[in-house]
Amino acid sequence: MLKDQLKALEQEVQAALDAATDDVALEGIRLRFLGRSGEITNVRKSIGTLAPAERPEAGKAINTAAAALEARIEAARHGLALKQLHERLAERIDVTFPALPARMGSLHPIRRALEDACGYLQRLGFAVVLGNEVETERYNFDALNIPADHPAREGLDSFYLRPGVLLRTHTSPMQVRTMEAVPPPLAVVVPGKAYRRDAIDARHSPMFHQIEGLLVAPGIHLGHLKGTLTGLLRELFGASQAVRFRPSFFPFTEPSAEVDTTCPGCGGSGCKTCGGSGWIEVGGAGMVHPDVLRNAGYDPTAVQGWAFGIGIDRIVMVRHDVDDIRVLFENDPRVLATLR
Ligand code: PHE
Repeated sequence: MLKDQLKALEQEVQAALDAATDDVALEGIRLRFLGRSGEITNVRKSIGTLAPAERPEAGKAINTAAAALEARIEAARHGLALKQLHERLAERIDVTFPALPARMGSLHPIRRALEDACGYLQRLGFAVVLGNEVETERYNFDALNIPADHPAREGLDSFYLRPGVLLRTHTSPMQVRTMEAVPPPLAVVVPGKAYRRDAIDARHSPMFHQIEGLLVAPGIHLGHLKGTLTGLLRELFGASQAVRFRPSFFPFTEPSAEVDTTCPGCGGSGCKTCGGSGWIEVGGAGMVHPDVLRNAGYDPTAVQGWAFGIGIDRIVMVRHDVDDIRVLFENDPRVLATLR
């Protein structure tokens, strides 16, 4: 009779399991049959009504039945999990569904300007070389004909690391370094950082970027310089740029010039960007001084050369209509993203 009862329970459990479709239902079944006040517990209580000699056998049968029920429920749980997995695997993924917008990184506007400038000069045959930001007085000053009593030497304008060693104040030291390294003819462009002891304001930063150009070969003259700079500035600002030379002085070039280009803000008619002049200054240039050629081991009677140094930060500011240089170095990605 107990046996029949247990058998009936087992059938009942199986019927309930067959109908269950989720974990909650399975847990309900477990509680109903195996829980503290479940069916099995009820059957156990009835043992007391049996003759003492029959009780051990009955207890054993109930335990066996309880274990069997447990195993059935576990099997059902496993089967359900497998079924759910297969359903998920069979889900279709719509690969044409638009993705969430990805935030793309971008090159810094200074980097883009440096690459544009170097790319143009490379297509003309110039080689890109990088110098060291830490320089010796010899390359930063002496070999460039900047005498020891020149104001730039006094430590007011320069960051010295130790006597004789400083952060380069311009990219021009690479003129001498490259000439020392290879014989003429030579055409190099040097993009990079330079440092001067300037107080930070909207137009000044103690760290800034320059591009140095140097061409040395027999018969090189100012016309080649002006042509190259005109092409370079047209590459950076557009096809209608003109270039103007104003007489100037640099110890390492003779003659020397300040380089102006048509103000891209107004096309030359005068505006706030150019202070009404129609021109913006972009750098310095000139014919390499014979002493500098000699200092580097070149023969100034055999070869001539020109050099220029263009300030990139100002160019970027004008290109992107930025009126405070600090914007370029604070690197707020939200701001940089607007400078396309
Ligand atoms: N080195 C100069 C400067 O930083 C610019 C320059 C470069 C001038 C090459 C002449 C020739 O101001």
